[in-house]
Amino acid sequence: MIHLAIVSVLVIVSTVLLGLFLTNADILPVQASLQAETVDWLFDVHWWFIAFFVSLITVFILYSVIVFRRRKGERGDGKYVTGNHRLEIVWTIVPIAIVLWMAVIGASTLADVERRDPQAITVDVFASQWVWRFEYSVPVEGEGGEQILTAVSSDTLMLPNNQQVILRLHSQDVIHSFFVPEFRVKQDVLPGGEEFVRELRVTPKQEGTFKVRCAEICGRLHYDMQADINVVPGSEFNAWLVEQSAGCNLSDAECGQRWAQTYGCVACHSINGDEGVGPTWLGLFGHEVQLADGSTVIADQEYLLNSILDPNAQTVAGFPPGIMPQDFGERLSEAQIQQIIAFIMSLESE
Ligand code: CUA
Repeated sequence: MIHLAIVSVLVIVSTVLLGLFLTNADILPVQASLQAETVDWLFDVHWWFIAFFVSLITVFILYSVIVFRRRKGERGDGKYVTGNHRLEIVWTIVPIAIVLWMAVIGASTLADVERRDPQAITVDVFASQWVWRFEYSVPVEGEGGEQILTAVSSDTLMLPNNQQVILRLHSQDVIHSFFVPEFRVKQDVLPGGEEFVRELRVTPKQEGTFKVRCAEICGRLHYDMQADINVVPGSEFNAWLVEQSAGCNLSDAECGQRWAQTYGCVACHSINGDEGVGPTWLGLFGHEVQLADGSTVIADQEYLLNSILDPNAQTVAGFPPGIMPQDFGERLSEAQIQQIIAFIMSLESE
């Protein structure tokens, strides 16, 4: 009995020390969303369980090995102990109760993280090899004075602080995974259209810049599939939306540069001559392009237009077909495509 008392005290001491160490160890990034608080609470509960069971097992083993070791001159077997119903009942019921309780707190945490705020704003997230694009629906005044929705596209995820946002995740090719460690949320992004759109809820609670990372191996540049997140005050967010939805009143080439940025073109096509996933745009216009089928073509406006609308028709030598999304004809307006072409035309090499 005295041994049991000593071991119990040692287990409690060890649990407290280990638990305090683990729950205070600085291994998680900042909590930048409301959901992160609940997730971290659940995480701490698990740390305490881990601390207790590690202590229970190692203290018992170490105590037995040291205190009950065979001493000099000792011969023969130890005491033979057989069945103990009371102990067996206890060590069956206690773990069942713990597992059931963990199921309950797991479910309630999930419910909390997924709780939908009726005031939430919606952002469509489009993932493709290897860029993220974010689309906002903004009501603007139409020509007849009626309210119409216009889409604002961005390569940066702008979010208002302290407001829940529902991210609707679409993939345009393979499975990706939307992961923001500071928000503690992660969700696979599936291809296959509306039926496979998954939703994620986040309520940012800290202004600042964070990063979306892709957490699913999705090809050669998976490691580089990141996008910036900007959490800003609500008023700043609204001003940004208004500014973005106002359309572009710059020169064609400057507007084209904006679309190339917001629609993710420049993630694959460099504008400084660097090798990328796709051919660089620097010095492309008016020059000869070597195609995969061995022929050559002059990169005129018609070639650029065709390459945007039907990228697989004339694949450039050295670049595999099927990489570039084929739906830019639907996602961009004719004017936007012409402006992007104007931008490409403006990129002359020295
Ligand atoms: Cu997308 Cu990994």
